[in-house]
Amino acid sequence: MKSKKKIKRPKPIYFDSAATTRQKPPQVLKAVVDFAQNVGVSHGRGAYQSAIKANELVFATRLALSKLFHIQRMDRILFTKNVTEAINTAMKGFLKSGDHVVLSGLEHNAVIRPLNKLKADRGIDYTLITANSTGRLNPYDFEEAFKPNTKLVCLTHASNVIGNINPVEEVGALCAKKGIAFLVDTAQTAGVIPIDMKTMNIDFLAFTGHKGLMGPPGTGGLAVSAKWNLDSFIEGGTGSNSDKEEQPQQWPDKFESGTQNYWGLAGLRAGVEFLLKNSVLKIRRREESLMNQFLTGIEKLKGVKVYGLPPGFEKDRVAVVSLNVEGKDPSELAYELDEKYGIMVRAGLHCAPLAHRTIGTYPVGTVRFSFGYYNTEKEVDKALKALREITN
Ligand SMILES: Cc1ncc(COP(=O)(O)O)c(C=O)c1O
Repeated sequence: MKSKKKIKRPKPIYFDSAATTRQKPPQVLKAVVDFAQNVGVSHGRGAYQSAIKANELVFATRLALSKLFHIQRMDRILFTKNVTEAINTAMKGFLKSGDHVVLSGLEHNAVIRPLNKLKADRGIDYTLITANSTGRLNPYDFEEAFKPNTKLVCLTHASNVIGNINPVEEVGALCAKKGIAFLVDTAQTAGVIPIDMKTMNIDFLAFTGHKGLMGPPGTGGLAVSAKWNLDSFIEGGTGSNSDKEEQPQQWPDKFESGTQNYWGLAGLRAGVEFLLKNSVLKIRRREESLMNQFLTGIEKLKGVKVYGLPPGFEKDRVAVVSLNVEGKDPSELAYELDEKYGIMVRAGLHCAPLAHRTIGTYPVGTVRFSFGYYNTEKEVDKALKALREITN
């Protein structure tokens, strides 16, 4: 009988942290297991000791998030299963027939798809603000698009395609001046760059737990400023006002029907506490340094086009780099990187076709490298070496 020869695969390298952070701080996994093994019950339902511990977990998670994002009112932090659900909760609870929305041309499908649904169902209207070819947005283009019926502005804090950090402070100030609500999608920035809900004038801060916040998938939320009210997104059991057949109106119960993801929240709490302890700036410095190493190395390669801001503007981008190699389809390049070098990157449109139209890569897309806190310089060197071999 022939002996089966094992094919030696290179050690895998993960450069897809913009999709989800694969490696989490050990405290996160420990917190999930601890909760599952030692508490394991719902909050807000029972009065026994474990139920009180579950209440404490939910409170502590809100508290950690309120510190991280400078959220004024803890009762206005609503847990959802991800940022997509948070954005849907905000838009569908807020927008009414005849409302107008302004959004950037760098938004994820998590923003444009619910808006298009609302356009079809409720007759809302929207204006897209296009960025220039390097992905820069001009805040005053937003102001020019305001109409008397503009009720909401949506802006992703950083593009998940090209990494540009968008002018959230400037747009927030313009919205506040006009009394227009401001929704920020922090999927690519929460836990990576500092966010202050108050000074940035954010009314709806939508976050996801499984990326920079280092938590498990299935966690996320929406923080809502005290200025605005929302209709509930789903209704059901909340453990409160159980004698009433109508949805309770107090926050956050109004928005948190059904049993919550406690295992996930235990991990999210540990992730956010890890960030508070280590400081977001430390994470940012690490990721920026890896991105700079990559961008500097890439500059020397022939036939590689990097999208987004030109060299010298690294401070204005998160560690997300989109590129294409001349003569190669993005999916072909991503396959080769994985197959030959064990390098995991994402190819295609990254759920953000609007952004690709802006940078001129629609419909084929790009290959996206995104760096996380746990990546190393050695791994970046390996990626550069692989790209050098491929482009040669
Ligand atoms: C900018 C942006 N918005 C929204 C999302 C959706 O995130 P989630 O799948 O966690 O809801 C992502 C992640 O893919 C993203 O990068």
